[in-house]
Amino acid sequence: MKILVTGGLGFIGSHTTVELQNKGYEVIIIDDLSNSTEKVLDGIVAITGKRPIFEKLDLKEKSKVEDFFKRHQDVAGVIHFAASKAVGESVEKPLLYYENNIGTLVYLLKELSQKNKSSFIFSSSCTVYGQADKMPITESAPVKAAESPYGNTKQMGEEIIHDTCKVTPGINAIALRYFNPMGAHPSTEIGELPIGVPQNLVPFITQTGIGLREQLSVFGGDYPTSDGTCIRDYIHVVDLAKAHVVALERLLNGKNSENYEVFNVGTGKGSTVLEAIKSFERVSGKKLNYKIVDRRPGDITSAYADTTKANKVLGWKAESTLDEAMKSAWLWEQKVRK
Ligand code: UD1
Repeated sequence: MKILVTGGLGFIGSHTTVELQNKGYEVIIIDDLSNSTEKVLDGIVAITGKRPIFEKLDLKEKSKVEDFFKRHQDVAGVIHFAASKAVGESVEKPLLYYENNIGTLVYLLKELSQKNKSSFIFSSSCTVYGQADKMPITESAPVKAAESPYGNTKQMGEEIIHDTCKVTPGINAIALRYFNPMGAHPSTEIGELPIGVPQNLVPFITQTGIGLREQLSVFGGDYPTSDGTCIRDYIHVVDLAKAHVVALERLLNGKNSENYEVFNVGTGKGSTVLEAIKSFERVSGKKLNYKIVDRRPGDITSAYADTTKANKVLGWKAESTLDEAMKSAWLWEQKVRK
């Protein structure tokens, strides 16, 4: 069965492609290479022994999207990762984010709505909850006003899909609300490759550990948590990738109870920034140079998932511990800097 993975050469997309191929799906990747390279394909081949079909395509080019679906009428499902994801950049360039993340989603849904049946998985984020009032966060927690255009594109994306599904019975969709993805494939053939200075915690930790950055700034030590630093739910990217396959199969097999559903994808366990640092020190045997500095504007105190719905309804559960995920991130960092 043919599955289109947009943004399939990115961090989560490449790991999901591997899991899809491991289960026998034929994967077509489209990616504009704005935040990835074709070399990722070699990593996927090294793990799975199979080269996915790859087309360099920018989803903003509507006529090319139309042409793609004309040429690939047998696409049974779409997992849509392609999007811009830097929060700070989105504040500076809102229209770029609305065009990249919303315009492209609309073009894809237009194509899918012309098919008799299609299955669609959307990369959403726990950012839609903002600072939730209760921990752990369930899917019924209210969606709060977005802190950034990036966050807004995830909220709007969900609404656009929901509205489309209401009037298009042929489209079945699932939005996966990711918590904090991290780590790399255990083979170290693929992993996270942030361009420039990493914005996210884990790549900043491993780059500091390897000596590429001098010091990690811990943003805020005065939050109302056990050690004063923020709490997040760090999920191994391979666990996250597997959640996509399970969600897709729910749709392909017609097991969904509604034609638009949302699921949290996290581990259910919250860790502070200092706990993440300790995990790194345990698995690497290195001391990390870090300093507690001012809070980062827009950060929330705490976010971790109630995963009951995903566990029960999808039959999926994250398996890796923070240490296992951190170890994989560290092995990957060492490999790419060799
Ligand atoms: C961020 C985005 C979120 C997005 C996600 C995508 C913000 C406010 N949120 O989530 O919308 O979906 O990335 O991956 O940008 N930290 C440090 N030092 C650092 C980097 C991070 O102390 O150098 C801390 C942060 O304050 C936070 C935790 O580490 O408490 C995780 O940060 P990060 O990896 O950036 O993820 P989020 O902020 O949770």
